[in-house]
Amino acid sequence: EIPTLEEGESKNKELVLTLPVEQGWVASAIRQHQGFWVWERVLPGILTMQEVFKHDPNDIIVASLPKSGTTWLKALTFTIVHRSKFSFSDHPLLKFNPHDCVPVLDHTYAGLVEQNLKILPSPRVLGTHTPYSFLPEIVKTSDCPIIYLCRETKDVLVSFWHMLSARNSIPFNQAFELFCEGRAPYGPIWDHVLEYYTISLHNQKKVLFLKYEEMMNDPIEAVTRLADFIGCPFTEEEVKQNVVVKVVEFCSFNKLKDLDVNKNNSKNDFLFRKAVVGDWQNYITAEMATKLDKITEERLQDSGFTY
Ligand code: A3P
Repeated sequence: EIPTLEEGESKNKELVLTLPVEQGWVASAIRQHQGFWVWERVLPGILTMQEVFKHDPNDIIVASLPKSGTTWLKALTFTIVHRSKFSFSDHPLLKFNPHDCVPVLDHTYAGLVEQNLKILPSPRVLGTHTPYSFLPEIVKTSDCPIIYLCRETKDVLVSFWHMLSARNSIPFNQAFELFCEGRAPYGPIWDHVLEYYTISLHNQKKVLFLKYEEMMNDPIEAVTRLADFIGCPFTEEEVKQNVVVKVVEFCSFNKLKDLDVNKNNSKNDFLFRKAVVGDWQNYITAEMATKLDKITEERLQDSGFTY
């Protein structure tokens, strides 16, 4: 029998408190569950989501480890999917942050605000930071398409630490060591990436695997692939009318960053920092970079995956 959201949440809260614990860079601890470290306050929601999530056959999932470019992927996917519904001059993304238009499922269930999913335009675009193995069974076994975005390890670490440093994070050197050991939120990062990567190799219809650096390099190509994957390819007419370019520009860092909703709102402004590939060089010493790169190489060995 399926528990109610509240029943699931209270049962799973108790369960989570029995799991191995680690400091989570900020006040909230992380707990280890089935090989991954997840925020203590979010994990009960994820476990509840596995039990109560009601899947709609049209759902589209966007997945990523935090700081991999989630906000960008959400804006792009939402804009592509709903392009016949909303014009660029009167668009939800002009008034709402991408995370409001594409809610993080994990937080939705952790916050007991499942009703927020009911107000989304169809098809729903839903976000998650969970590893593939943590997704509700129906999401894995149905035709529900999943778009996964990954980003180079050192840039994720630097971006993550900056976000959390605004909330009294532990010193960078300490965060670095924990990250290298995989004891970081949603870590180990390599396992997170490889779970989605492996599915994308075996089932190209299930998971579209994107890289932040490739998207930055050629956003037109990425947006075209994305639209093809979710079954709403750009028509010849749209291409002629520059719609692909318009989507890219509408969701660009500079455009989104300067919107009032993202600029004058402390809840959102940390989402738009620099958006520079290789910014880690300004924060990580050569010695640290070598150490982390070596771990990355070891962890990815035999997987066929490289950044
Ligand atoms: P930096 O901190 O390196 O600047 P997430 O959305 O997963 O939290 O990732 C945040 C990172 O994506 C930040 O990286 C942010 O600047 C960058 N970002 C946000 N919006 C973007 C956009 N429209 N295009 C490219 N990068 C973007």
